[in-house]
Amino acid sequence: MITPTIPTMTQSLREIDAAHHIHPFTHNADMHQTGAHIIASAKGSYVTDDHGVRLLDGLAGLWCVNVGYGRREIIDAVTQQMEKLCFYPSFFSSTTEPTILLADKLHRLGLPRLTHTLFSNSGSEANDTAIKVILHYWNLKGHPRRTKFISRTYSYHGVTMGATSLTGLVSCTKPFGLPAAGFVRLPGPYHYMSNSELTPEEFGKKCLEETETIIRCEGPDSIAALFAEPIQGAGGVIIPPAGYLKGLRELARKYGILYVSDEVITAFGRVGAYYASDKWDLDPDLVILAKGITSGYIPLAATRVSSEIAETLNSGGYYANGHTYSGHPVACAAALANIALIEKENLVDYVANDIGVYFEKKFLEFNNHPAVGEARCHKMMGAMELLRHGEKVTDPMIGLGPKAAAIVRKHGAIVRGLANLIAISPCLNITHAEVDELFASVKAGLDEFASI
Ligand SMILES: Cc1ncc(COP(=O)(O)O)c(C=O)c1O
Repeated sequence: MITPTIPTMTQSLREIDAAHHIHPFTHNADMHQTGAHIIASAKGSYVTDDHGVRLLDGLAGLWCVNVGYGRREIIDAVTQQMEKLCFYPSFFSSTTEPTILLADKLHRLGLPRLTHTLFSNSGSEANDTAIKVILHYWNLKGHPRRTKFISRTYSYHGVTMGATSLTGLVSCTKPFGLPAAGFVRLPGPYHYMSNSELTPEEFGKKCLEETETIIRCEGPDSIAALFAEPIQGAGGVIIPPAGYLKGLRELARKYGILYVSDEVITAFGRVGAYYASDKWDLDPDLVILAKGITSGYIPLAATRVSSEIAETLNSGGYYANGHTYSGHPVACAAALANIALIEKENLVDYVANDIGVYFEKKFLEFNNHPAVGEARCHKMMGAMELLRHGEKVTDPMIGLGPKAAAIVRKHGAIVRGLANLIAISPCLNITHAEVDELFASVKAGLDEFASI
């Protein structure tokens, strides 16, 4: 008989982790030389690790804890829902009250043309749901040849087979022999990385011209949908140049291609709006939501679709798609409580007109730091491109980002190291004093990084 070991020492927790756990997006073997960083508790914008070290979380978990950690309102809502009804599926003509109320609430928050919601458990699943809905839609509309999907370099759409195939980061696709056939890349508007002589706006126009050429070469009638994040997050917080996103949306419209706005990071206040697509007037045909929908308290994701798509699907008979936990009542209760908090605390307005403005201003001051080649930021999402001994580097394998992030952590804050940049995107209810503290840690970390 195997007796389960109950770890009492964190050292043994690390050993057990090394023995039994493969971490996502991690060099597992390297990590286990020193052991995983175990986070033990969190409150507000701070997390505390198992050594008792308190760190200011500059990444809101993983761009998701919008309302901060440990909010009693969400904990109570989840507890009450678990006591009342811990689970019931939305399969086979059933559903639950929180699921219905959340679908309605998402519609009331914006993008009024998107009347219906399909629920899933992660951003990846929500993108794969969109892919299947779109294929089904075009079949029902009598256009079965529209099967290709277009998306951009440096985009990140998740890890399921479809979402990986949409993702424009070679590190995510190559090990798995993806993208699958029919997933086509467009140029992403990453001006800094392009080394282009053009201004960002001119570069954006050039990307659009190349996009149109690719659409024509592929054959517009073979393309089902275009997927795009309003700000490309995991690809490096790529903030689109003025006019670019509208141009991209117009191209999709011109060729009858459905436009999918992947707002897994940008929705629920991070850019000072419930939906970035509303803020930038993109009028998407579908929108993808996850992360901030529950502030990460419980996994939940949503694919919102236009009334036209919904009516077509509903006219198509039996809809054979969905997950056991699609519209899980506890997750939906968490989302409703989370959105109620965002509303009660005016967090969208706080980001749009107060803390987001302050954060952006402090962020952009790093354009004067000797270790920074470019600091770019939009409201609560920013990236700093790092220099090596004052020189720009473009090979992502050099990995200045993770090195700098490790140093910043020694100075009291968590930021994300990605390729040769650090990304920062904290909880939305962070205070001015906490923003000051965050950037003091970043500055101390980058000063040290520049000196080695
Ligand atoms: C824009 C975007 N889409 C999709 C995903 C995938 O979401 P998940 O990790 O919940 O599957 C992410 C995750 O970071 C994301 O940033």
